[in-house]
Amino acid sequence: MNLEEILFQIFLLIAAATDTTRISTVMQDALLLQHRAQWEAVCRDPALVPAAVAESLRLEPSAAAVARIAAEPIDIDGTLVPAGSLITLSTMSAMRDERAFTNPDAFDIGRTDQMRMHAVFGYGVHRCIGEALARAELEEVLAALAARIPQLQLDVPPTISGHFGVRPVSAMRVSWKP
Ligand code: HEM
Repeated sequence: MNLEEILFQIFLLIAAATDTTRISTVMQDALLLQHRAQWEAVCRDPALVPAAVAESLRLEPSAAAVARIAAEPIDIDGTLVPAGSLITLSTMSAMRDERAFTNPDAFDIGRTDQMRMHAVFGYGVHRCIGEALARAELEEVLAALAARIPQLQLDVPPTISGHFGVRPVSAMRVSWKP
């Protein structure tokens, strides 16, 4: 790699690793605290943590789509996508596909139709290289919060928006009594 490529790789690694995980941390806490019974279930049983993380990533992902360039012309229901076009594929939409998930708009950490290969991390050769690290961070932070502050309260929920790339999120306010 030349210097420009090395710098780009470093930039990509930092950009891809920080906001995605930070926003996912906010959203998983918010979703669980908004569904108090499921938060309490996680507090009682830490074995539920991986499922809670996966369901939060499905319902309110921090990254909403992946980008590809059409290698050849593609006909989608009569609409021609010319070769060379930049295409954004909405993983966010796929993760609420009613043909794939029962009650797709519901937050349910007990769902039995969760993806084995989670779409939030993309697909193919460019699938997120940091998936294992991201899952470990998200699971550790949730397990620690649930173990140490089960009385956590959500005072101001965050607002997440956007349908492409990393989705911006507003601040969340929480509190707890000792
Ligand atoms: C919840 C956290 C994360 C989410 C939702 C996420 C999501 C994604 C997505 C959707 C892609 C594009 C995949 C594709 O085009 O098929 C991607 C690529 C990438 N991610 Fe992540 N990511 C997360 C955390 C991380 C972390 C922690 C790291 C690094 C330690 C990281 C490093 C990268 C890199 C380097 C790429 C580019 C891979 C390539 O183009 O070959 N990501 N990520």
